[in-house]
Amino acid sequence: MAYETILVETRGKVGLITLNRPQALNALNSTLLGEVNRALDALEADHGIGCIVITGSEKAFAAGADIKEMANLSYPQIYSDDQFAGWDRVAGRRKPMIAAVAGFALGGGCEFAMMCDFIVAADNAKFGQPEIKLGVMPGMGGTQRLTRLIGKAKAMEMCLTGRLMGAEEAERSGLVAKVVPLADLLTEALKTAETIASLSLPIVMMTKETINRADETSLSEGIRFERRIFHSMFATADQKEGMAAFVEKRAPQFKDR
Ligand code: HXC
Repeated sequence: MAYETILVETRGKVGLITLNRPQALNALNSTLLGEVNRALDALEADHGIGCIVITGSEKAFAAGADIKEMANLSYPQIYSDDQFAGWDRVAGRRKPMIAAVAGFALGGGCEFAMMCDFIVAADNAKFGQPEIKLGVMPGMGGTQRLTRLIGKAKAMEMCLTGRLMGAEEAERSGLVAKVVPLADLLTEALKTAETIASLSLPIVMMTKETINRADETSLSEGIRFERRIFHSMFATADQKEGMAAFVEKRAPQFKDR
């Protein structure tokens, strides 16, 4: 498939999407959003793919939604076209997605990274929600996801001042899972993705779905949901294989798809 704003490749069981609008620091325009969803559709439909990595360049994961594209939109236009709604499809993907972030992840770029299941950051990564400086606020989930990830005090401070947060602080605050040297970013993210992709795909997907319930429900309902999904795992061949392999002291061969 031909893409204009992204590069898509598969590395074994891992799908890799590289945002590729270097002249605009990977600003997220509507073409890019459409292409990301098209690529994700294909990677999700491919039973050989067990994990997806999304990355940008060394300078920018993405410097935000494309300001030039939206600057002159009227209220009726932005309301009727609802051009950012496609991001809900990105966030709702069922296969695991890792954001490998180097450089700027600002505004919609930070929000895109937070839509992924976790973020691996290079030591030069800079996160921020600077929309307030443009006379708007985060509009792709940032007010909600950032608050859940780093807590109200820091989310307020970041969204109200627009200040940037470096990689070390982002790790300390719970925004990113791991910080690695810039030169190792893609290798590390792909290695983690390969580990996930080597496991049982349905069990991985059920685990993702169950963890995500934590954002949507009470503790007791979340635990009830977990218990039901846990029980259902015993209907898979991979559960039988995983436990038999442990008992027989051999590596498991997961096959469910
Ligand atoms: C469109 C962008 C862009 C953006 C950068 N560019 N960010 N174009 N939308 N978000 C373009 C610049 O206009 C410039 O194009 C080129 O990329 C290089 O950027 P420079 O500014 O020259 O680079 P530099 O001096 O290194 O500064 C990097 C930067 C700065 C600090 C990241 O570009 C910046 O502040 N960008 C905007 C960050 C931002 O406000 N993001 C939030 C967007 S709003 P030319 O043609 O001049 O070379 C948002 C809302 C989401 O995301 C919610 C939607 C629902």
